[in-house]
Amino acid sequence: MEDLRARVREVTLRLVELYAERMSLIRQIAELKRERGLPVKDEAVETKLWDEVSAKCKERGLDQLDCRRIFSFLISSSIRAQIPEGGGAGPHVEVFRRAKEIERSGTKVYHLEVGEPPWSFPPAVFDSLVEAIKRGETRYSTPTGTFRFREAASEWLSRRDGIDANPEEVIPTPGSKYAIFSILSTFLRPGDRVGVLLPAWPAYRGMASHLSLEMIEIDSTEEVEKLEGVRAFILCSPNNPDGKVWSKKELESLAEVLRETGALLISDDAYAELSFSERVPPSRVYENTISVNTLSKAFGMTGFRLGYVHGNEEKVKKLAKFIGLTITNVPEFIQEAGASALESAGDWIPRVMEHLISYLDLAMRKLEGAPLKMNRPDGALYLFPRVELDDFDSMYFAFRLLEDKKIAVAPGSGFGPYKDRLRITYASPDADKGLRLLREALQSWKS
Ligand SMILES: Cc1ncc(COP(=O)(O)O)c(C=O)c1O
Repeated sequence: MEDLRARVREVTLRLVELYAERMSLIRQIAELKRERGLPVKDEAVETKLWDEVSAKCKERGLDQLDCRRIFSFLISSSIRAQIPEGGGAGPHVEVFRRAKEIERSGTKVYHLEVGEPPWSFPPAVFDSLVEAIKRGETRYSTPTGTFRFREAASEWLSRRDGIDANPEEVIPTPGSKYAIFSILSTFLRPGDRVGVLLPAWPAYRGMASHLSLEMIEIDSTEEVEKLEGVRAFILCSPNNPDGKVWSKKELESLAEVLRETGALLISDDAYAELSFSERVPPSRVYENTISVNTLSKAFGMTGFRLGYVHGNEEKVKKLAKFIGLTITNVPEFIQEAGASALESAGDWIPRVMEHLISYLDLAMRKLEGAPLKMNRPDGALYLFPRVELDDFDSMYFAFRLLEDKKIAVAPGSGFGPYKDRLRITYASPDADKGLRLLREALQSWKS
């Protein structure tokens, strides 16, 4: 017995040695792939290897299921080793966290770093929420959502995007960030490639890294041919951080590439209501689109954590399984509040847009004279200017500014290779004083 145990120990340690050797080889392959611009996942190599592994397992009389498990573990660890670590939710969230810490010690911080709109939610929301709680809508519910919410969302989407959405094609989610994570988890597999246009919201990269997906970043819409082989593309129009709205022509050229492999277009419509120029809904250009929406921004309901997805019924059913598995359901009283907000959208959105324009005008005035090069955005809540100062490092600047002046801004480097840029939330309750202080800080900044 002791003898046998000693040999088991020896074999186990040998396995660990072999695993370490395998990982070292994988890292060398990863390096070569990066140099040659090759994808992380190679189906042909993987299939051939599995055929050999499975034959070996049969020859040694091993259980096929055990072999499949070992093989899957090895493949997913290879993929993880080849995909660079994402930066979590992004440096702006780090700035926000530190700002909150400073505030807890009783010091005011001017918030220009998060996408927290200055308006509150539509008035009907409060009563709906309270009434739903009084009615006892505080119990477990179904993942697909209440009929009232799905109907209100499909009606608003039909009106907003000029489509014919129906309630069965809608599912509520706890915010749109979780919706995107749910979609990536449900429809993609480790090693799949997912495309994005830079600059991009940092959470996309963080999620891709968490799910072992390979992120393909393009610098301009003229580079869509680089997206060959992607399983999905995440598009945000108007975009966070630069406010860009995709033109019909740009969407068509993207659709042409995605159509070749039937890739999924994930349209992050977080700012769809907040567009100054004419926005073409991606779902009207490309059939395999899933649209992700939120009540956080235009409806001012960030803390309610409520969003919704629109896609064909088959996709919605698959997402319902993921939602059911992970969170069971979005609280019914939250959905009631959201339904009231969506039902009032026709009156509410034009008022919000008036506010947004006045905030943008104010920001352009307040920042005049600052060493910033910027365009007026097509939509969303942000400015994404280049800082015209030598050797400017947005990360260093953002944290210094927060500690010294108590102004919070988002470093450009969170959104891609934009060390010389800042993302400034111009539609912020702190805009008036915060933007003036930011201009003064930039004017006197020495790196
Ligand atoms: C582009 C984009 N998508 C999604 C979200 C997530 O919003 P929420 O999870 O509050 O719906 C944000 C929030 O800042 C965003 O900027």
